Amino acid sequence: MADFPVLYEKLKKYTAADFYPFHMPGHKRQMGGITGFPDPYRLDITEIDGFDNLHHPEGVIKESMEWAASVYGADRAYYLVNGSTCGILSAISGAVPQGSVILMSRNCHKAVYHGVFLNSLKTKYVYPQFMEEYGVQCGLSPEKIQRMLKEDRNISAVLIGSPTYDGIVSDVKSIADICHKSDIPLIVDEAHGAHFRYSDRFPASALELGADIVIQSVHKTLPCFTQSALLHLREGYVDRKKVERYLQIYQSSSPSYLLMAGIELGIWWMEQDEGKRRMKDFTDSLSELRRELKNMKNLRLMGEEIVGSKDIFDIDISKVIVSAKGTGINGVQLCRRLREEYHLEMEMCTEDYVTAITTVMDTREGLWRLKDAFLDIDKSLGKEGGSPWRPHPENWEAEQVLTIREAWDSPRETIPLKESEGRISGGFIYVYPPGIPIIAPGERFTKKIIDIVCRYKEEGLCVHGGEAAEVVAIQ
Ligand SMILES: Cc1ncc(COP(=O)(O)O)c(C=O)c1O
Repeated sequence: MADFPVLYEKLKKYTAADFYPFHMPGHKRQMGGITGFPDPYRLDITEIDGFDNLHHPEGVIKESMEWAASVYGADRAYYLVNGSTCGILSAISGAVPQGSVILMSRNCHKAVYHGVFLNSLKTKYVYPQFMEEYGVQCGLSPEKIQRMLKEDRNISAVLIGSPTYDGIVSDVKSIADICHKSDIPLIVDEAHGAHFRYSDRFPASALELGADIVIQSVHKTLPCFTQSALLHLREGYVDRKKVERYLQIYQSSSPSYLLMAGIELGIWWMEQDEGKRRMKDFTDSLSELRRELKNMKNLRLMGEEIVGSKDIFDIDISKVIVSAKGTGINGVQLCRRLREEYHLEMEMCTEDYVTAITTVMDTREGLWRLKDAFLDIDKSLGKEGGSPWRPHPENWEAEQVLTIREAWDSPRETIPLKESEGRISGGFIYVYPPGIPIIAPGERFTKKIIDIVCRYKEEGLCVHGGEAAEVVAIQ
């Protein structure tokens, strides 16, 4: 029997050690020391007199959210305490009619698929291109979206993820213009882009580029608590009241004042001289780090040279993507070496690369530990031997047989994954993170999909839902 409280003790021990976080949350456990944030228990209240109510804001919360909207240039901004997830669910439920057709990027986060399920939507997917060199999914083609909207006049909204988990940004302005010409809204999952507006070294935010609803996880890249996020809304193509109704449904009726105050403090601090100075220092250090990493002989830093190819409109340089492709180790092994030999914890690894999230809260010492570790590991690797530059089958277009709701609500059976070819999936299979489905409910298993799942498991990636195949029982 373990000594309780096990979770609490484990957290205390881990955070006191010298492990450095290149992952969320964006405050990197530094914000308390910088701002003198008090004992969290002392600020943790409920909706007592004078403290307003997130679900019916009329006082201090209303004032604070109006200020946040003015900072970001939105008509409305809403504080979210259940992550971007609740913002995405509310945006879809409030802005896309039940049972209608949504055009969405196929590499969306699972929260978008859950919104599709809850609203019984039919899906049309726009697939990103794939870059063999790094093994990353790329941008979305505005022309393809335009063509798809012309071909199907029933599409009632477009939802894209930009930037992606890897910091790939699509041409949001062109996509917004195309949507508006068709008189439909554009929703952008900008979960990874809350920091864009704080430096001209980052891409422009979707909000400036004409998107109607933009959802940002401030906890991912700004100095804010986990679970805190923002939903920005521009009036015109969406019914604000409807979105607000769903925000009430999908958010806790006891929203945390710590989280709300943490959002306000985080974005306020970014606006102050200290936040601006630190952002300048951070982006300067980041440029230096990236210059150094370009000298690696075997590992490869994904850099700005990819902008302009494969529908990549821009990239977020704060995401440090280092590919191990062709070096003899894979992304999982690189991640393990960084953890075990250097005490550096990455945000994510795929079979080909690792992703480090860097933010304004990173110390120069931390960034230099990352640089030294990559340069060191690079020297120990060779080009010869090891995993070859194998062709990637990820650029598949899955056949959709049933809608997500039809499939998820159907009777199902569980069979060995290897026997699932030709059957319709009754569930999701994805690697987490990033949580992008390899197969979604209603799609047909192909040999290619089965091979990918098996390979990911062999490579040691964290595959959810692929222990066996859950398939729709009636076909
Ligand atoms: C692209 C993307 N969208 C949405 C989400 C959900 O965000 P949250 O964890 O804030 O609910 C994530 C989480 O990782 C994500 O990567």
